[in-house]
Amino acid sequence: MDASQSPSFFAALPELAVQFGTPTYAYDWATLRERATTLRAAFPDAQVRYAIKANPNVNLLERLKSEFEFGFDAVSGGEVHRALYAGTPGPDIVLNGPGKLTADFALAHEVQATLVLDSHDEVHRAARHAPGARVLIRVNPELQVGTHDHLATGNGSAKFGVLLKDVPEVYLKARKVGLNVIGLHVHIGSSIDNPEDFTQAFAKIQNLASSVGPVEVLDIGGGFGLTLDLHALGQKATRLAQAFQAELWIEPGRYLVADAGILLTRIVGLKRTHRPFVICDASMTELLRPMLYGSRHAVLPLRERHAPPSVWDLAGSACEAGDVLARDITLHEPVEGDLLVIAQAGAYGASMASNYLTRLRPAEAVWDGVQWVQWRRRDILSDLLAAELAAAPAVGAHHD
Ligand SMILES: Cc1ncc(COP(=O)(O)O)c(C=O)c1O
Repeated sequence: MDASQSPSFFAALPELAVQFGTPTYAYDWATLRERATTLRAAFPDAQVRYAIKANPNVNLLERLKSEFEFGFDAVSGGEVHRALYAGTPGPDIVLNGPGKLTADFALAHEVQATLVLDSHDEVHRAARHAPGARVLIRVNPELQVGTHDHLATGNGSAKFGVLLKDVPEVYLKARKVGLNVIGLHVHIGSSIDNPEDFTQAFAKIQNLASSVGPVEVLDIGGGFGLTLDLHALGQKATRLAQAFQAELWIEPGRYLVADAGILLTRIVGLKRTHRPFVICDASMTELLRPMLYGSRHAVLPLRERHAPPSVWDLAGSACEAGDVLARDITLHEPVEGDLLVIAQAGAYGASMASNYLTRLRPAEAVWDGVQWVQWRRRDILSDLLAAELAAAPAVGAHHD
């Protein structure tokens, strides 16, 4: 199926369905280890801050911390808590995001996380709520990159970062108000497969060298496409950091976990309108990427049938017209009850699962080479109803 995954992983998927039911997310630890090792080799001198948003399961975070000594990139107070729960020291956490809450600033301050400031306004908010904090200034390099619009964060129209012309002023302002400005941050988007996009971003960052003060840390974000030559990218990034005499930080998410995970689903029915549909028990509530980003995921049957091939759309079981997980997939006589593998689902899969339509978020398990280890149980209905049935007093209301 995918050469990077261990054959025993696939052989064990029927057992996964028996143990945990479907839909269930399954991860292959051998693939994850291979990705982490490749990353370390490509960026030997960099501090890795794994982007929690890609897959926030605390069991995963604990292993990334204990086996690879990764730090974490968080984009909410909740994600900071996940990193702390995984045993990460606060200083190994970076807090990103375009609209941090007051409580997020205070939490970052308390645990001594590094704040990535996203605007002029955030400089003032950080000075008020996290005085003296270590901060990076996020640069918007005003660059068009070859990815889906919803994944492009560094073009001039995106909501992220400070425009190039404003960086020197924001940098100086941050120092003036007493923040400990340790450097610059840039993240041009996700699923960037063209190395030229990074080259251009790095050139724009390098141009800032003469107009800002000392840069001790250069954080190049994540977004590394799965087909990128990571070694070449690592060399380029290292040269850039050396030009600043800065330490290099990276924030990969998808590169580490996408290939390591699949979504196992079961066919619940077949039907034809003007199109032929296989309908499965997963849906947009388990895997939103195809609807949100137009992402394509290979779909493979667990058991091959010796029958002529036919072409189908894989529809989810949610009551939404847009709930189509894949178009024009080839299957050999699909039958109700068959198991299907939706590939490359380890990143932004489980992390975006929702309870829309009162659907229960799926179980997650990791294959350690010998057995399945549960990383998350499937929701039960009382998980969903608990918050509604608890007569929360008004003092629980959240205001920023
Ligand atoms: C600031 C920041 N860093 C890192 C990442 C990780 O990106 P990816 O999962 O594509 O590597 C993201 C994702 O959008 C991000 O917003």
